Amino acid sequence: MVELLAGRSVVVDATVGAGGHAEALLRGGVATVIGVDRDATALREASERLASFGTRFRAVRARFSGLTEALGRVGVSSVGGAFFDLGVSSMQLDRPERGFSYRGAGPLDMRMDDDPGPTAADVVNDYPEDRLANVIFELGEERRSDHGRARRDRRRSGASAPRRPPPRPPDVPGHPY
Ligand SMILES: C[S@@+](CC[C@H](N)C(=O)[O-])C[C@H]1O[C@@H](n2cnc3c(N)ncnc32)[C@H](O)[C@@H]1O
Repeated sequence: MVELLAGRSVVVDATVGAGGHAEALLRGGVATVIGVDRDATALREASERLASFGTRFRAVRARFSGLTEALGRVGVSSVGGAFFDLGVSSMQLDRPERGFSYRGAGPLDMRMDDDPGPTAADVVNDYPEDRLANVIFELGEERRSDHGRARRDRRRSGASAPRRPPPRPPDVPGHPY
């Protein structure tokens, strides 16, 4: 990644997180890195980490969907490259209070930023069943998202449930399942 982008004048790190990749880009010869993230905590940490690069690093709070507009706000109209490291950051996973942790107990929050807005607990408790099934289908790519509903419909109609093998556990070392 660094080899590919080295020598470019302006590169957007669209998921700057804690700033690890941005630091590698700056050390690798990119003149200026615009670090974008929707998470204000991540931006603060990246800014502290990269303070020694001075104006070569600029932090911008935005979502991917508002990237062009956000770059416009800081006077950037063209870039030499953009980098996306999609997902959640280790910082988000490691803090149980954010609600992403697999190990530590925490609230069912899972918001990517500190904007007011529904938490995961609000979503699972308040969304109507159809909407929840759609979210799981669309965003979780789970084809059986309405399985529970189908099972209830079958029970009501007196039909018996089809037999399926239990889902295969994922091949992830250390995974609790
Ligand atoms: C895998 S982490 C990036 C880690 C980073 N490359 C590093 O070196 O620390 C992904 C980051 O993308 C951010 N993110 C997730 N969805 C986003 C969105 N829709 N818009 C902007 N940032 C987003 C998260 O807040 C997180 O900090």
